[in-house]
Amino acid sequence: MPKLNENYLNLQDSYLFSKINQKVTAYSKEHPDQKIIRLGIGDVTLPLGTHIIDELHSGVDALASTTAFKGYGPEQGYEFLRNSIVTYYSEHGVNITADEVFISDGAKSDTGNITDLFDKDNIVLIPDPVYPVYVDTNLMNNRKIIYIDANAENNFLPLPDSKVHADIIYICSPNNPTGAVYNHEQLQKWVDYALKNQAVILFDAAYESFITDPTLPRSIFEITGARKCAIEFCSLSKTAGFTGTRCGYTIVPKDLVFTASNGTSMSLHTMWNRRQTTKFNGVSYIVQKGAAAVFSPEGMAQCKENLAYYQENARIISSTLSQLGIRSFGGVNSPYIWFECPNGKESWDFFDYLLHNAQIVGTPGAGFGKNGKNFFRLTSFNSHENTLEAMTRFKKIFSSI
Ligand code: MLT
Repeated sequence: MPKLNENYLNLQDSYLFSKINQKVTAYSKEHPDQKIIRLGIGDVTLPLGTHIIDELHSGVDALASTTAFKGYGPEQGYEFLRNSIVTYYSEHGVNITADEVFISDGAKSDTGNITDLFDKDNIVLIPDPVYPVYVDTNLMNNRKIIYIDANAENNFLPLPDSKVHADIIYICSPNNPTGAVYNHEQLQKWVDYALKNQAVILFDAAYESFITDPTLPRSIFEITGARKCAIEFCSLSKTAGFTGTRCGYTIVPKDLVFTASNGTSMSLHTMWNRRQTTKFNGVSYIVQKGAAAVFSPEGMAQCKENLAYYQENARIISSTLSQLGIRSFGGVNSPYIWFECPNGKESWDFFDYLLHNAQIVGTPGAGFGKNGKNFFRLTSFNSHENTLEAMTRFKKIFSSI
């Protein structure tokens, strides 16, 4: 009999969004005539930009041609895409090299897979509330997790505590689920802390394209010293509508070198390359053609149009909440609006109430950690019509919550 990874016994029965899906499916089976409005999982609804579609088509055409045909590609991604990402970063004042960029099928996989590079015996620091993947993937390896509270008192932007030691630190900014964004000064505190503790920051920048305030950092590598202590994950899921198309990237600076127990120098860049070339065969040529189009002037202009559409939804949601006197966070430099459940309701109760009385699906804050117990998340990923209708329904039921 195989010995199983019994750390799985320490996980919740199902992943947060699977649990929500099960509840919504059960409700809609019982109420087939009800129109459900989904503002739960952050899944895009607008079609891809036409320039991206054209490039995806050109990728397909290449596969139909004897001369342009592609078999296995480089596991790290094609040069043309890695170079486009380098240029995109340089436009934001960040210098990275193409061989520090690793193309993947998305930030969810990479933030989970990166744990392969670290021994079980590490102290992992994770803010609470948080994207559940960081917690679950470390529980799967039985790593010690210490949580740092993100709450209304610190604007959901906790800062390091010099009395606490950590080896691996997760930061997501703009934050999922709270929508809070660290400024340069605050991120500098995290980088200084990581350097002092010889720790690594795993920085999830999946929502960077939602930042409209030009003073806010979009990359950890805008921060002095970050190349020596941080890995950045990013994704085209929300930036370009690739949740179904799948493409992301991870930047592992070559400066990330640590000393092994036998004194050997170990480079995280070399290790990640070794891991990816062993366990991953790269993203399809077709998808990488479409992804490179995202970074072209036409592609970026089309993505920005879609982002503005979602930002308007976020504005509609935030302004409705404020009219109702509900305290909310995020929604400005983020697609997520995070708010206090009315009348001190617990978030799963509020989830059920909203689903049953207004047919709106959101995400209960408790699914992101204990500090989310009385909070709720709505996303801006839906049509204007559905967002407006959801807010009308919300106002209608509000007085009876
Ligand atoms: C979310 O809703 O939190 C995200 O869509 C999840 C993800 O990106 O995997």
